[in-house]
Amino acid sequence: MQTWEAIRARRNVRSYDGRPIDDDTLEHILEAARRTPSSMNQQAWDFVVVTDRERLQDLSKVWRHAAHVARSAATIALVAPASADPDERETFQFDLGQASMSIMLTAADRGIGSCHAAVADQALAREVLGLPAERECMWLISLGHPADRPLTPIERPSRRAIDDVVHRERW
Ligand SMILES: Cc1cc2nc3c(=O)[nH]c(=O)nc-3n(C[C@H](O)[C@H](O)[C@H](O)COP(=O)(O)O)c2cc1C
Repeated sequence: MQTWEAIRARRNVRSYDGRPIDDDTLEHILEAARRTPSSMNQQAWDFVVVTDRERLQDLSKVWRHAAHVARSAATIALVAPASADPDERETFQFDLGQASMSIMLTAADRGIGSCHAAVADQALAREVLGLPAERECMWLISLGHPADRPLTPIERPSRRAIDDVVHRERW
């Protein structure tokens, strides 16, 4: 797939067909995460990749809208240093947002569906992932072969109109 095709084909996929993701594709996706730009190149993130079914099922309980994680072929936990400093937290969130899109577009490029999940129960996430006390699991990105239909460019995405969101020269 070309970049433009991947951008248009990516959608949140919550149902997977049960096939594993081949090692080369999974490593490719993780390499994309590693190459993500970050504020001052701090790379404060860590990525925990989970493929064990029982662990995925446990991980899916960290948030009530994370059930898709249990059925995924793999889920990448986006981990950042635990911080009480709002500026630092904001920077980590921005950097992880960029990592999320790197992961999702690279997955789409290989025909792999992906879906975000927030993390509400930090204690459970820490226990399931074995995180040290000074780290927090900020987001989960689940991955798998789409069960419904292959990823193809979406002609009419559910988005605000271009003239509504884009302001040219001035608001
Ligand atoms: C910051 C963020 C958090 C999200 N959290 C969840 C979530 O916890 N569970 C879920 O099923 N989807 C989650 N989503 C997916 C959004 O609902 C989805 O991206 C949006 O509805 C647009 O759908 P699309 O990605 O298929 O275009 C999240 C997306 C973002 C950007």
